[in-house]
Amino acid sequence: MRKINIAIDGPASSGKSTVAKIIAKDLGYIYTDTGAMYRSITYLAVKHQVAFDDEAGLVALIEKYPITFSQTTGGQAVFCDGEEVTQAIRNNEVTHNVSEVSAHEEVRKRLVAQQQKIAEAGGVVMDGRDIGTQVLPNAEVKIFLVASVDERAERRYKENIAKGIATDLATLKEEIKQRDYLDSHREVSPLKQAADATLIDTTGMSIQDVVAAIETIVAATL
Ligand code: C5P
Repeated sequence: MRKINIAIDGPASSGKSTVAKIIAKDLGYIYTDTGAMYRSITYLAVKHQVAFDDEAGLVALIEKYPITFSQTTGGQAVFCDGEEVTQAIRNNEVTHNVSEVSAHEEVRKRLVAQQQKIAEAGGVVMDGRDIGTQVLPNAEVKIFLVASVDERAERRYKENIAKGIATDLATLKEEIKQRDYLDSHREVSPLKQAADATLIDTTGMSIQDVVAAIETIVAATL
């Protein structure tokens, strides 16, 4: 069977990575979380004291410290600068600053080129903000996932509690709104539904329902 590319975009905490991982596993495809790449550069900026508005400094980090992934049963492990950063790139400092880092044109150019290379041979499920519009405009399946801010904050709250991370629901809601705003209003490749993407509002849907809806679209494409 031919291997296609599947682009899954949407705002913060809309469930993209959860469903993308399951679909990749079901199809035997490679899962790529592009948010993890922007998060890794933000993490490196903190580690090496590069300012978030220093575009040239951020580009130098991308060139010096390649980001690598390894597929795991649960999804994907992320490595850069000699360490595994899978968990560290989810910390609050990274989450609060990643939208500023990802807004730089030269940062995006380099990471988009890496993402396109990963998907060159097909068989990739890639999630992010601009996959259907910029990274893989020819992806055979494009999905745009949305959900209400309340539901997204509650999902993230439950995940954090389960992981033992202390969290305040109201703060989480504000952070999600703020990140949505920054990601959708930046000049370069803002978060936007591709004209040919299928919109799925996952508010009130279970993970399995969302996976089934996407896999039905994929089956019709293969
Ligand atoms: O998906 P996640 O929430 O981990 O992404 C973290 C941040 O990375 C987003 O808020 C956005 O600023 C940036 N991002 C992006 N383009 C992508 C994926 C993520 O700008 N394709």
